[in-house]
Amino acid sequence: MSQDGLFEAPKALLLEIEQYEPANAEEVEQFRIQYLGAKGAIKRLFGAIKDIPNEQKKAYGQLVNQVKQTAEAKWEAWKEQFAGQQQQQQAGDLTRPIVQGAPGARHPLSIIRNKIITVFNRIGFTVAEGPEIEDDWHNFTALNIPADHPARDMQDTFFLQRHPDIVLRTHTSPVQIRYMEEHEPPIRIISPGRVFRVDNDSTHSPVFHQVEGLYIAKGVSFAELKQTLYYFVNEIFGEGTEVRFRPSYFPFTEPSAEMDIAWKKDGKDSWMEILGCGMVDPNVLENCNIDPDIYTGYAFGMGVERIAMLKYGIRDIRLFYENDVRFLRQFTADT
Ligand code: PHE
Repeated sequence: MSQDGLFEAPKALLLEIEQYEPANAEEVEQFRIQYLGAKGAIKRLFGAIKDIPNEQKKAYGQLVNQVKQTAEAKWEAWKEQFAGQQQQQQAGDLTRPIVQGAPGARHPLSIIRNKIITVFNRIGFTVAEGPEIEDDWHNFTALNIPADHPARDMQDTFFLQRHPDIVLRTHTSPVQIRYMEEHEPPIRIISPGRVFRVDNDSTHSPVFHQVEGLYIAKGVSFAELKQTLYYFVNEIFGEGTEVRFRPSYFPFTEPSAEMDIAWKKDGKDSWMEILGCGMVDPNVLENCNIDPDIYTGYAFGMGVERIAMLKYGIRDIRLFYENDVRFLRQFTADT
């Protein structure tokens, strides 16, 4: 073989490689197989070295190495160039599998509110809602809390306007009034919603949530109220959770009680108040044009935060509102 003949093949290959222009990622891959692959053209050139006369082996080897390095450099550059293009094409491909992101979670207060609603739905209560900005009549007067009554001081009210008073509702009880004004008994509602009081510490927030319950029909008794609340506590906190009723005072119920549930406080048996309740005061029924000689009923109101704190063992109410994902993430398993 002449000297020129020996060097012809690598020189031709170098030219081919330099002129190669892939149009897409597939052609880049074809290039790799054809030139750089285990059975590719460059491998064959290296294989031919054994047929080269000794004195020319060095020059031949250098040339083939140059071919190889050129092919590798081109391939590396194209790989990057076409990888970007491939991603862009995929971005427009609606059949491409989705990239799984972190799943969202319900807020613990929504979880508890929904649980409470579900439990009462099962025994015939339907959801009724009312406005967060209330007038004096619905938030106080119709609920048997006349102006200058000391009971108004029990609720640290945010006033938006004085005389006539417009307030941020201090409880969900005004929804009772609104519903009774519009509907004839039998009435069986629960009213979840946001309420507002001038109060701010580790167990009180100026904005918090309550769920109100109201049942008005003929011959409703306190025994029914207790049984309904036993059922509720068993469903939310588990079968056999101990409760106690303490006599209490609310202007809109007579008699009135507060219900506590048994829980462990720093390892010691203790009681925690979870709701207020009682038989709807006849004055309240009259204010809504319901005849108290025909109808009786019970009402109760509970704090959603309080129940969530007890159920999940949360000590500071402010954790609910900070939106720290490290806190919120812990509730992803719940529904
Ligand atoms: N509205 C009362 C409160 O916010 C709770 C309550 C509701 C008590 C219904 C009795 C009956 O404190």
